[in-house]
Formats: sequence, C-alpha cells, structure tokens
Amino acid sequence: MRKAHEIPAPGAGNGSLTYQNGFANEFGTEVLEGALPRGRNSPQRCPYGLYAEQFSGTAFTAPRQSNRRSWLYRIRPAAVHGEFRRRDDGYLTSRFDAVDPSPNQLRWSPIPIPTEPTDFVEGLRTAAGNGSPEQQTGCAIHWYVANRSMSGRFFYSADGELLIVPQLGRLRLATELGIVEIEPQQIAVIPRGLRFRVELLDAQARGYICENFGAPFRLPDLGPIGSNGLANPRDFETPVAWYEDQAGDFELVAKFMGHLWSARIDHSPLDVVAWHGNHAPYRYDLRRFNTIGSISYDHPDPSIFLVLQSLSDTPGVDSIDFVIFPPRWLVAQDTFRPPWFHRNVASEFMGLITGVYDAKADGFSPGGASLHNCMSGHGPDAATFEKASRADVSQPQHIIDTMAFMFETRTVIRPTRFALESPQLQRDYAQCWRDLRSHFTPGRK
Ligand SMILES: [Fe+2]
Repeated sequence: MRKAHEIPAPGAGNGSLTYQNGFANEFGTEVLEGALPRGRNSPQRCPYGLYAEQFSGTAFTAPRQSNRRSWLYRIRPAAVHGEFRRRDDGYLTSRFDAVDPSPNQLRWSPIPIPTEPTDFVEGLRTAAGNGSPEQQTGCAIHWYVANRSMSGRFFYSADGELLIVPQLGRLRLATELGIVEIEPQQIAVIPRGLRFRVELLDAQARGYICENFGAPFRLPDLGPIGSNGLANPRDFETPVAWYEDQAGDFELVAKFMGHLWSARIDHSPLDVVAWHGNHAPYRYDLRRFNTIGSISYDHPDPSIFLVLQSLSDTPGVDSIDFVIFPPRWLVAQDTFRPPWFHRNVASEFMGLITGVYDAKADGFSPGGASLHNCMSGHGPDAATFEKASRADVSQPQHIIDTMAFMFETRTVIRPTRFALESPQLQRDYAQCWRDLRSHFTPGRK
C-alpha cells in the first residue's frame, strides 16, 4: 500500500485495469470492435445482436451542463428478471424519524467486522441520514463491513448514487459499465440504479457510504482559485466496457424507497458489451487532491477542501458536500493552526480513513465517526488546544499520515436507532471539551 503522501503515477491504477480520464465526459467504449453503433443511438438492429438501452441520471430536459445519461448495448435488457419481493432490510434504513435527533455531539469507535460470513449487501449498517428517497433530497450515511465477496448476487440502489469511501480493504466493483477497483484513500461513485457486485480483494473490508438521494455529485466551481485546483477533472477515472455472459440462478437485490427487494435473475446483469455517454461510475484518488490553504495568517473555511458537491435548489447552498482533510503544510503565522472552534448552520458527519485528525489528540480512530449537527459547538479537544496555543508557529508544520473526510449537509443529520444503541457510541465524547477552562484575565491583555 502506498504511503499517505505519495501521489500515484498517471496510469498507475490498481492492477491492470484500464480507465478513461475525466469527470462526466462523453465517454465511448466497446469490448468488441464495432459494438458501439456509429452515428445513432438506437439503430433498427444493433451490432452483434445486442439490445440498446438508455440509462439516465437526470431529467431528460435538465440543462445541458448538468444532463447525465448513457446508452448501453447489452446482451439482455435490464427488464429481464423475476418479480421483486420484499427482503429483510437488516440494519439498512432510509427512515430517519425513528429517534429524535439531539443537539449532543456524538462520536463512534469503528464498527466491528462480523465473524459470520457477510457480503457487502449484508454488511450495510445505516448510521444516519436526512431527507428521503421519495423526495429525492438528502442522503443516507452507511457503514459497510464485509468478509466475503458477493457471489451470485447483484445490487442496485434506485434511491441514490453511492459514494463509497473505503477505510479497510480493497474492493473490486464489477458494474454494468465496467470494473472499478479502489483501496483506502480512493473513492468510487456508483450512479443511482447501476447494477454491480462487490468483490473483496483482501480478507476484510470496512468503509463509509454516502447514498445521495438528490442531484448527482459534481465538481464545484473554483471562483477566484482559477481554472485548476482542488480535485482536478483529469484525475477522475471511469472504467472501460466489460461484460460477462453468464447463465445461472442469481439474485438481484434492489434498494427501492428505503427497503430491500429481491428478484431471481437467470443471467448476470453485468452484460453491457459497449456503452457511451456521461453517466457512469468513476473513482478518484484522494491523494491527488490539490490542497490549498493560507500562506499568510488564519486558515480558510473548510469549503477549500471540497471534493464533490450535490447541489440543492438554492444557489450556494449544497445538499451534500464531500470534503477531505488530507496531508498538508501549515504555514500560517500568528495563527491557531488546528481547525478553529465553530458552530455551523450545516451539519457534519466525519470519518477517518487513516492516521490522526489534527483537531483531536485521540478517540477518533480510523473507521470511527463523529456527528456535529446544526449549531452544536465543537472544535479541538482540550489537549490539542493547549498544545496548539503554545506551539512554535515561526516554522512550517507538515501534517502527514492523515486522511479524514466529512459528509456535510444542508439539513440536520439524524442518527439511526442502530447508531445510537451501538456499543461503539462513545458516551463520554463531550468530555473531551470539559478541560477547556477559562484563561480570561481582565487585568492583563
Ligand atoms: Fe466542524
């Protein structure tokens, strides 16, 4: 595994898979030469006897700059499967009204990997969320834990696109539109409705998922930063076409309106031989992020760490921001260098992928999480405050071996009953600020 501060060389993916570079480009890819119809999307007869199928991610009439759709050329249409019947939801939910959310600051230790055989679908545990799939706004935040690959089973969520953030173990995501492999410090985004199978490349896997019920993630505008910086479009990687022509007695699991549904399917739905369009899965290596910060004093709002955003209907107010806190230099002079104390109108669910987060001396572990909701005060713990208040800031400080992230949302993030009753909830978390005593000395400036 690469070290946190090493940037992978261009084209140096995991293994020998091939990817197409760019964010939401008009991609085109075919496994068999000529499988992609030229000059039209839906010819009377498709090459190789394939079926044409459109797969959309936005309304047909969405503005061109935000319109997402792809054309798939496949062995059988997606309509071919048995009847869906309700299946046990396990720890998965998209109802966030079961427990009253509190203004308390919350933190969890890492969710344990099960000892019984558990695949990606069985290992989904909803931590929190807001909005609803029905309203197509908000998100569900899940942990996933797994110790075996999905076998004879395929999954899709009609409720939202899936932003997958691995913390432990590499994943091979075999999707309708190609294969994406990710390791911790890489992310993948699976479009709403795309069918896929998750295979483990290591013995165990754990991570986080933001299931985005709203508008597809996009790259933020850069304003005065200019035409480059933050997550650069060329570093996003979309797979080339790949298919399997497999018959068998398989299960297709759908997440629909917050519940799991199961149908029999007599073939692999991963049978797309060619496709073109701008609606496709992609991966991104967080170590490629061009981190920007102050070179004078103070540090900017954490919006400077924004990787992806899901827009709301209000300009400037995102439904979801995916933000990272990567390795970086701190050089600001006469400045309290860790993140400052704050209360925000937005709500913040944080996770840690590797290393240590610079606002907390301990207690926030890789695989764990914290939740600071609207107007709940938070910031560095007492030990971090004392250390940073006395630190020598005449010299640059290099923060290495860290990768934290945040799902920040417009509306309050409501924890689930599972999360609040979990033994991993740290019931003494708020004590980390208890020792922040008054230093007020009115007689001495
Ligand atoms: Fe915060």
